[in-house]
Amino acid sequence: MSVIENSTLAIIGAGSVGTATAYAAMIRGSARHVRLYDIDAARVDAEVLDLAHGSQFTGASDISGGADLKHVEGADVVVITAGAKQHPGQTRLDLAATNVEILRGMLPKLLERAPDAVYLLVTNPCDVLTVAAQQISGLPSSRVFSSGTVLDTARLRWKLAQRAGVAQSSVHAHIVGEHGDTEFPLWSSASIGVTPLLEWEREGTRVFHAAELDALSDEVRNAAYQVIAGKGATNYAIGLSAARIVEAVLHDEHAILPVSSVLSGFLGVDGVALSIPTVVSARGADPVVTTPFDATETAALQASAQALASVQSSLGL
Ligand code: LAC
Repeated sequence: MSVIENSTLAIIGAGSVGTATAYAAMIRGSARHVRLYDIDAARVDAEVLDLAHGSQFTGASDISGGADLKHVEGADVVVITAGAKQHPGQTRLDLAATNVEILRGMLPKLLERAPDAVYLLVTNPCDVLTVAAQQISGLPSSRVFSSGTVLDTARLRWKLAQRAGVAQSSVHAHIVGEHGDTEFPLWSSASIGVTPLLEWEREGTRVFHAAELDALSDEVRNAAYQVIAGKGATNYAIGLSAARIVEAVLHDEHAILPVSSVLSGFLGVDGVALSIPTVVSARGADPVVTTPFDATETAALQASAQALASVQSSLGL
């Protein structure tokens, strides 16, 4: 993939997610310059060295970084991965108070160094942190958004593609709402190619049945818990998801991705960040407000909004 002209991606946090994002961005050539920042100097210096040692084998991206905020200077996109991570038995929302506090201390310093950047929140709960970041920064909601359900949507497409026997790029289905326990699929608009999902056949037999859709969405909703139970964290898929979103910004792609940004008046949702299909470009995130939701999906979006709004109000957001 061609590297984007002289673009700079700054990644905040050199933990498993931040380093996976840097690694993915280098391999995909998401940005010309990849910068990794962390307060833990020994950790970030070692991670940067390890990535640099392999950079001959990646795209044309260069990697540098350290514990000095100078590495964030002038970044075009800032990806925030720093914060407490989910442990087995914890929900993403359980991390809200701790990670909002970390954001309050960190974001003003980042804005001083990269005032014109697009800010992408990956730290969880990414939807709540998006509202906090938008309030702390005063940036327009297009310029501060989160990875949202891009990863959940990838999980859904992977599952559906396997069952349908087609490439994942031919599966048109989205997970929307909270990146978390109230997320849900937009089944009403899901298709394989141009065939509605429930009409897709393999060797003359229908592959998907309405009765199993709930089980399918539960598998996607619980996927992170499954990975965390086995390896303690998720990192590769979220790193790849973040790199993909960064490219849509730096390439000014106008790609439609289910990122999460603060919604205003969409199906009765106000002041809460939720994922719906969104145009992602150099200016950031523009939700597609003409996305069709049927009555069940509208109720589910409002339930997702309610779940987040109550956490937000407990934090004074
Ligand atoms: C997951 C984390 C990124 O869903 O929330 O894997």
